Amino acid sequence: MEKTKETVELEKLKMDGLEEFSKKVTKIADVSNHNNNKIILRGWVYRQRRTGNKSFIVLRDGTGIIQCVVDKEKVGENEWKNSNDVFVDSVISLSGVVKEDSRAPSGYEVQVDGLILDFKGDPFPISKDQSTEFLLDVRHLWVRSQHIIEALKMKAALLKECRSFLDERGFIEVQTPMFTSSAAESGATVFEVKYFNRKAYLAQTGQLYSEALIGGYPLVYVFAPSFRSEPSRTPRHLTEFWQLEPEMAFYNQDMNMKLQEELIEYVVHNLAKKYPDTLKKFNRDPQDLLDIKAPFERLPYAKAVEKLQEKGVNIKWGDDIGLDEEKILVKDYKQPVFLTNFPKDLKAFYMKINDEDPRTVKAADMLAPEGIGEIIGGSERVYDYNELVQRINEQGLKKEDYEWYLDLRKYGSVPHSGFGMGSERVLRWILKLETVRDAIPFPRTINRLAP
Ligand code: 4AD
Ligand code: MG
Repeated sequence: MEKTKETVELEKLKMDGLEEFSKKVTKIADVSNHNNNKIILRGWVYRQRRTGNKSFIVLRDGTGIIQCVVDKEKVGENEWKNSNDVFVDSVISLSGVVKEDSRAPSGYEVQVDGLILDFKGDPFPISKDQSTEFLLDVRHLWVRSQHIIEALKMKAALLKECRSFLDERGFIEVQTPMFTSSAAESGATVFEVKYFNRKAYLAQTGQLYSEALIGGYPLVYVFAPSFRSEPSRTPRHLTEFWQLEPEMAFYNQDMNMKLQEELIEYVVHNLAKKYPDTLKKFNRDPQDLLDIKAPFERLPYAKAVEKLQEKGVNIKWGDDIGLDEEKILVKDYKQPVFLTNFPKDLKAFYMKINDEDPRTVKAADMLAPEGIGEIIGGSERVYDYNELVQRINEQGLKKEDYEWYLDLRKYGSVPHSGFGMGSERVLRWILKLETVRDAIPFPRTINRLAP
């Protein structure tokens, strides 16, 4: 027999066009609902091996993977040849019957009766045990890996939870520009770009613009890329990352921190409840997330320095608390902790001075446990005109660069606060990813601009 009648049937169905054929295709995630039934699958070859008279094709379609068995005795020459003449990522359409089978990786397999090799392609360049650098070179193909796709699905879920939390509280999502005329965070990490005959800077944050928008509507948030020319090659730095930045009128720093811990609790609880199986694939016990309960401890910077000194760290008041120090601090914690009241010289010009201790600002970083460190940075903003001018001067910035921002303190200025959550860092923590590079499809770092 050259070809089975089932393959001829498949070919006929394909002639009805992509739209009609697509309606007949079952998603791999749904295969278990079709035990003993005949189905049509379409997807990419995840792996293939042959033993004797059987060809085992593991097929993937983005929703899952399933083993499909082609038995030489039961198909034609055509199906047998095609099922063996494939590479990883060749494209196949097939028909067959679903059988529960405890030996199959997913508990089910498909006994193939019809098969079309839609696209053979070239030998796939990625195989097992390749170096991280190589995998980054072929990232445009590596993004098809289960590890990345599952992580991206969880990132989408994470953002959906963040948005529904903010929606429920009456926030609106707004857009802020990526081309800006001055640095908003540290001038040291700003990317300069040519903007016609002038210089522009890629946005490090949407915050200053959100501060303008809360004059019109009190609760806004931005979810957008932030650009930082950070030369550090660490597991937690990208030069382009996606930040969620809520900004709230009539919020002080206490209210700000409360909102942050409620957001994190809401998000991790919902992910734990909705995606326990995916979390387990990443070695995250959903219970770890369910155990996270607001309020989180507030640890003032001065206390943190003392704690670090007790642990033998060479640090004094005024020194920055970097990743190494953060790691030591969070070691004893099972859940996030706020590091509060930083020395003002360590932080941005827009942060409000603490009345009780004018050497410090009303700012807090939320540190995640398990060696992750800072996932959120937030503060109460200076809303008095003169105080803001003074802070700009103190930090050696140019008042002219902040004219419109200063304007906000001339008209209808109110106490306000906000924060920025690094989405890749939060995902890294939740999924125990080795690096934030695994939390974004095409990571940008100091030496990585392609693909
Ligand atoms: O602490 P940052 O710099 O704060 C701001 O940009 C404020 N304007 C936020 C605000 O108040 N609206 O950055 C906020 C968060 C950090 O806590 C961290 O999670 C993440 O953004 N982040 C980075 N993530 C990946 N790579 C980098 N280079 C990052 N820099 C900051
Ligand atoms: Mg920060």
